[in-house]
Amino acid sequence: MTDFIGKLRGIVGERGLITEEDAKHPYLTDWRDNYLGTALAVVRPGTTEEVAAVVGLCIDDKVAVVPQGGNTGMMGGGTPHRDGREIVLSLNRMNRVIEVDAIGYTMTVEAGVILKTIQDRAAEHDRLFPLSLAAEGSCTIGGNLSTNAGGVQVLQYGNARQLVLGLEVVTPQGEIWNGLRALKKDNTGYDLRDLYLGAEGTLGIITKAVLKLWPKPKDVATAWTAVRDPQAAVTLLSGAHAASEDNVTSCELMARQGIDFVLKHNPGATDPLTERHDWYVLLEWSSTRSRRAGDNATGLAEKMEAYLGEAMESGLVVDAAIAQNEAQARAFWALRENHTESQKREGPSIKHDISVSVSKIPAFMTEGLQAMKRVLPECRPVPFGHVGDGNIHFNCMAPAGWDRARFAPHIEPISAAVYDLVVAHGGSISAEHGIGQLKVDELAHYRSRVELDTMRAIKRALDPQNLMNPGKIVRI
Ligand code: FAD
Ligand code: MLT
Ligand code: ZN
Repeated sequence: MTDFIGKLRGIVGERGLITEEDAKHPYLTDWRDNYLGTALAVVRPGTTEEVAAVVGLCIDDKVAVVPQGGNTGMMGGGTPHRDGREIVLSLNRMNRVIEVDAIGYTMTVEAGVILKTIQDRAAEHDRLFPLSLAAEGSCTIGGNLSTNAGGVQVLQYGNARQLVLGLEVVTPQGEIWNGLRALKKDNTGYDLRDLYLGAEGTLGIITKAVLKLWPKPKDVATAWTAVRDPQAAVTLLSGAHAASEDNVTSCELMARQGIDFVLKHNPGATDPLTERHDWYVLLEWSSTRSRRAGDNATGLAEKMEAYLGEAMESGLVVDAAIAQNEAQARAFWALRENHTESQKREGPSIKHDISVSVSKIPAFMTEGLQAMKRVLPECRPVPFGHVGDGNIHFNCMAPAGWDRARFAPHIEPISAAVYDLVVAHGGSISAEHGIGQLKVDELAHYRSRVELDTMRAIKRALDPQNLMNPGKIVRI
């Protein structure tokens, strides 16, 4: 083993190697504190060639590789196993923005660049990189692409998969595939790029990417609305597409329980509306059409005000506030983005990251809330999320004051009740967080034999030695 560590040191140098137990610890646990693994070492290569050399060494020594970016994943995909013979390969030193091509609307980056850095660099060039999520200050683009992350602007721009043109990948054979092509059109056989996207590091290591950019919006309107119920939320969204002239960028639904947790755990936060309501929608419209002084054309805020006025008259919307400036818009967004962190502080929870078609959301919500309560009447459901994508974080908090051990026996029956219902509605048991190690059994249970066999065949073909993030997504 000393020899293996010595060879690793020879490839990445002292700076790229962590072997001390205390220093390794943050890389061996996940954001939710669900897992604690072990690793022979945490390796932090500085270049693609070093990644390839590390993988080559791991093949020779039969050591498995667990790729890791910002370690904000929800499914334990970047955490090594407790009893494995594995290294964690962190991309956090590969954090260079290589090129911004403002004319061609692309940016080429290394995999370890933090998402917020990419957004900021695009903005400096009057461009937009639209992937946006609460973990953007610490997650990496490599992790985003490997989980096919969603976030709050999928409605307009798509998932991470739709935001990328080309990739560079180190294969499980330790070879470098240079697919860094900035091409919108490329029908040259099987799409290898799409195989690696969303593969959670089980098929190879993404080392670089060519990302797509968009024009930066110039006119943005943000509203915090209280809606009658989830049916009102989807009806409001449905009309908003036309009313905004197809400029809806976000539509996030929240139940009062989630707002209460945010207000409790974030002392500076305030409720924008005077009365308490059961359901809220954060609606954002944005357009690249700039408004100049003296411009008589109606801006998005005026259009939104007119639309919400009609929605109040018809009873869909109970109350609403439109942000008057950027600070107010940011405060609305903070109420939404602090949901995850606040729930972590509140206590143990189950995350059901589900999707059904948008029109089925209301029925699913009613039946799903009843199903959770039937299993554990004192549980505290916190449904919230990307209603415009049909993706609800149908989370379930433990009853107040319960610890993990007390809640643990109830997790499986609650999740089974929720997932059975999701499948009955033709939905997915993981809309954006992936499978990792947490949902391997659920995937095996809810997907068909044909799908699972095909996934295992792909894994065996690309990684016959099962050294690339083994035991994640599918077991072979
Ligand atoms: P990690 O957690 O390090 O890794 C995730 C997976 O990708 C692992 O399986 C890992 O092995 C693999 N991986 C990482 N880097 C590479 C690479 N370079 N090559 C190959 N495999 C790799 N997710 C959403 O989709 N939408 C949200 O709205 C959202 N909100 C969040 C809010 C909070 C507060 C938090 C903590 C998380 C949220 N997430 C969300 C989940 C998480 O942020 C995303 O999954 C993110 O894309 C993970 O990026 P990361 O760099 O942290 O990846
Ligand atoms: C989010 O959208 O904020 C995260 O994906 C959700 C979660 O905490 O489950
Ligand atoms: Zn989400």
